[in-house]
Amino acid sequence: MIRFKTDTTLQVFDFTAAKNALAEIKQDPMAGWLTVPIDQEELGRLKLAAQKIQGDSEYLICVGIGGSYLGHKAVIDALGNKSRTKVLYAGNSLSSQALDEVFAEVGTSDFSVNVISKSGTTTEPAVAFRLLKAGLKNKYGVNWASRVYVTTDANKGALHDEAIKNKYQMFTIPDNIGGRYSVLTSVGLLPMAVADLDINSMLDAARKAAVGINSDFNLAMSPANVEPTSIVLREAVRYATIRQMLYSKQGKETEVLATFEPRFATFQEWWKQLFGESEGKQDQGIFPASVVYTTDLHSMGQYMQQGRRNLFETVVKFTTPNDRAIVVPEDVENLDGLNYLAGQNLDYINTKACEATIHAHRLGGIPVLEIEVSDFSEAAVGEMIYFFELACALSAKISGVNPFDQPGVEAYKTDMFKLLGKPGF
Ligand code: PA5
Repeated sequence: MIRFKTDTTLQVFDFTAAKNALAEIKQDPMAGWLTVPIDQEELGRLKLAAQKIQGDSEYLICVGIGGSYLGHKAVIDALGNKSRTKVLYAGNSLSSQALDEVFAEVGTSDFSVNVISKSGTTTEPAVAFRLLKAGLKNKYGVNWASRVYVTTDANKGALHDEAIKNKYQMFTIPDNIGGRYSVLTSVGLLPMAVADLDINSMLDAARKAAVGINSDFNLAMSPANVEPTSIVLREAVRYATIRQMLYSKQGKETEVLATFEPRFATFQEWWKQLFGESEGKQDQGIFPASVVYTTDLHSMGQYMQQGRRNLFETVVKFTTPNDRAIVVPEDVENLDGLNYLAGQNLDYINTKACEATIHAHRLGGIPVLEIEVSDFSEAAVGEMIYFFELACALSAKISGVNPFDQPGVEAYKTDMFKLLGKPGF
């Protein structure tokens, strides 16, 4: 069960603003993710597709950018791929080097392609898909299209039309869910199912959390609330309101999401997109940054301790230690002077590093928020995804911006299309 913590100086929650924000989000035409909707027919088809891919492909290449790839990559990197089919990513940049590496890794192995794009017109994935299509045609001849899985809008877009024409198996992104809120739709579910992750547990946990949005708001906010579903609402509200208080009242313009688990790093990238794209508009927004400790204590640690005090830190902690305890051995010579750690589990040492860092950063003048997650399980991750999505939407709404659009993303495209000579630009 997710828990949000702060030190006592930060226990200032503006529940009224959050209550109004939640009411507005519930009415928003782009808040479909709020109820974690599942089309059972599509889910069944998706599981069969995942089995087919596992049976006939050593690689699944996921083609997509932004919200169309970060969420499922985050989950697969955090939980590990449990399948024989490896998941690779293309179309998330225009780097020829990056695409070359994908081609080199696949080599002569069997592969399938999952093209994911809500608009169906995004340049990066479209270019990568065109190149991958050539590879599929070359390797599989007339059967190439049976290895293409498309996740896109149900009714429109170039990718949708191509999928119909070439009879690709198609999955849909609901109209009322934007890219960065789509990880628990077919966008993320197909790649995660191919990686043999328990998508049912993930969905169940997120749906349980979603029940909370209809609970009595004031009761849910009570410190005595132990109702598992509405705890997620309460903790998301607390996180969102404190973020906004730190930003608007204390000038804390940057939030640094910290972890002591390297496998959480891609999740931090997903978090950065979620919050950055949802809040950064109309000349405002908390800048989302991330660090992986203890590694980054030896690089960014200096800045965190003594640099500009315009930031706050949110530490995501996993409270259940790794199944396989790694214990520091005794060494009779003790030349490295480490015998004081002999017999200690590495996770215990990491926990102490975390405690020490939080303490030192607070003393250094950084407000530190803490989010406790039980473990790296599908259920915990499903709940955490919902928690962050809800907190992000609440926080953006409280600051007065629309959490579900991204008008600024278009600006560079017009210039790029002009430079590349795209017709009509
Ligand atoms: O959150 C968003 O909407 C964006 O990050 C999109 O996911 C990203 O731009 C990719 O768009 P599309 O899925 O239409 O290719």
